[in-house]
Amino acid sequence: MNLLIMGKPGAGKGTQAKKILDHFSLTHISTGDIYRDEIKKGSEIGQEAKKYLDQGNLVPDKMTNDIVWEVLQKHEYPNGFMLDGFPRTIAQAEALDEMLNTLNIHLTAVINVDVDDDVISDRMAGRRVCSNCGETYHVEYHPPKKDGVCDVCGHSLIQRKDDLKESVLNRLQIYKNKTQPLLDYYENKDLLLVIDGENPSDQVFEDILIKLGELH
Ligand code: AP5
Ligand code: ZN
Repeated sequence: MNLLIMGKPGAGKGTQAKKILDHFSLTHISTGDIYRDEIKKGSEIGQEAKKYLDQGNLVPDKMTNDIVWEVLQKHEYPNGFMLDGFPRTIAQAEALDEMLNTLNIHLTAVINVDVDDDVISDRMAGRRVCSNCGETYHVEYHPPKKDGVCDVCGHSLIQRKDDLKESVLNRLQIYKNKTQPLLDYYENKDLLLVIDGENPSDQVFEDILIKLGELH
């Protein structure tokens, strides 16, 4: 099974991706996570990407396409993959089609986690991430057991720079201009599954499983 998960910034893609990966033993390919890792390592890619991420802008297509190709062509996804945060532009979607054609791989479905803008602001404002392992929390909807401390590894929780208000508005605007048109792109390919992302996350996950089940 090869899935793609889409949605506005903060819609809950990462949260759902984790549940889906565990359920189907898929390999997670998140371009956002890849960039955050590279930034943490201080690599050349990281230094370049940081300029874009901090402001909430998209990294140029060529750089992102190259990174995804690097990962896909290694074939390290025995049960299939879940692409998260890619593609984000029509040019990236076309590049992905080419990559998949070359590798003779097909997408099973594209999941769109659908959430209103006002819910997005609330989710981003409350999001906290572990400074060490990247685990995601929310101060209200998914709080850690001990305030400000990661349940998984015990390190401190921080707020992502791009979760600050100005950056969030920019990301939402970019989503509307560049990423939203992809919904039609995948609808036309008969791959799109729209999920109500405003429910509690366990319910959202159940809805995804039901919709995926309908595919068999
Ligand atoms: P990326 O990491 O992909 O960021 P994003 O799309 O903005 O998505 P987020 O990680 O912010 O949110 P999410 O939807 O995963 O939500 P989450 O599950 O955490 O990309 C970051 C940056 O990298 C981009 O801005 C760009 O610069 C660059 N980049 C990445 N890919 C690129 C590409 N292809 N091309 C160019 N540049 C690229 O949930 C959010 C919060 O809500 C959490 O606190 C969570 O606990 C809570 N929550 C989740 N679900 C629920 C629920 N159902 N109910 C209540 N709370 C919930
Ligand atoms: Zn941690």
